[in-house]
Amino acid sequence: MEGQLIDTYNRVHNYLRISLTDNCNFRCFYCMPEEDYDFAPASKLMQADEIYKIAKLFVEQGVNKIRLTGGEPLVRKDAAKIIQLLAQLPVNLTITTNGSRIHEFIELLKENRIRSLNISLDTLDRDKFLLMTRRDQFQRVYDNIHLLLREGFHVKVNMVVMKGMNEAEILDFIEWTKLDPVHVRFIEFMPFSGNRWTSNKVVTWQEMLELAGTRYDILPLAAEPNDTAKKYQVPGHKGTFAVISTMSNNFCGTCNRIRLTADGKMKNCLFSASETDLLQPLRMGEDILPLIQQTIRAKHKELGGQFTTDFENIEATTIHNRSMITIGG
Ligand code: GTP
Ligand code: 5AD
Ligand code: SF4
Repeated sequence: MEGQLIDTYNRVHNYLRISLTDNCNFRCFYCMPEEDYDFAPASKLMQADEIYKIAKLFVEQGVNKIRLTGGEPLVRKDAAKIIQLLAQLPVNLTITTNGSRIHEFIELLKENRIRSLNISLDTLDRDKFLLMTRRDQFQRVYDNIHLLLREGFHVKVNMVVMKGMNEAEILDFIEWTKLDPVHVRFIEFMPFSGNRWTSNKVVTWQEMLELAGTRYDILPLAAEPNDTAKKYQVPGHKGTFAVISTMSNNFCGTCNRIRLTADGKMKNCLFSASETDLLQPLRMGEDILPLIQQTIRAKHKELGGQFTTDFENIEATTIHNRSMITIGG
């Protein structure tokens, strides 16, 4: 049964982000809750065949792009099997990863026609990397990005910009695009449960561009229809950079995204307070398509209906959501 997943604002949802695990081999403070965190037990997680079944159903409803996220998707023991299964579907399959295991997966990625990856890297300074991730793995991640570039992958690097932490490095990241065809995205810091977000830690996209303009001439690049990022290039540079302005200038009007958490809950928005369990009904042999359609229809106009772009007044504790590590961005 072919269809389309259209919400009440006429947005067509053709991009599914599947979190494979809420586990991660890094400990980035802005992604994890502050208190002790128990990872979900394996029995609560979608199994590989269940992921495939649910994904196939979404594909029959018009999904043509699937992104695997986490936690860190490549720490899941059967990540290779899941990639192989999903690669059988007629979709653009891609991954957002912290980059630490790419060298173990590079052949598998090539064999399964994955050509584009997004890598999270918030600093180019080894000591700061250790401070932010609590792991001394900067060189591993940096080398793996270069491995991907040598192998011809399209590589986007995600840098979450936090005031007083790493914003000055925006210029170093843009400098990196001079000689390497790497596509850096500067992301406004967003609030999630327990991630120590406060509005004064947000560097807005306008501030990021102002800083970029102190050293570089920058040219805006054309946007694709469902882009989250506004893209730019320094003339003559091999790579590009972009800003993701969720907090100060959201892009919800063209949102085409659906999320599935590792424990099989569907979220119609990154910031949705409510979730729809698809896994238990699937295990009970129920038809989950009506649940999916209802969840799409319940989608809010913007930001999960939880806040506005007047972000200066947000009190993080009033936002109901999971922590980022269990959503996957
Ligand atoms: P592509 O556009 O396919 O490259 O991926 P992406 O930018 O959607 O995915 P990625 O996982 O690299 O996410 C980069 C940043 O964008 C993260 O901080 C995400 O939380 C954020 N992001 C991704 N999708 C959405 C979205 O639908 N809404 C909002 N507000 N932010 C998003
Ligand atoms: N705000 C903005 N982006 C975040 N990410 C994780 N936590 C946050 C946050 N609080 C980013 C990661 C990763 C992507 C999936 O989401 O850096 O690249
Ligand atoms: Fe879509 Fe929600 Fe992100 Fe807006 S905040 S772009 S509605 S997922």
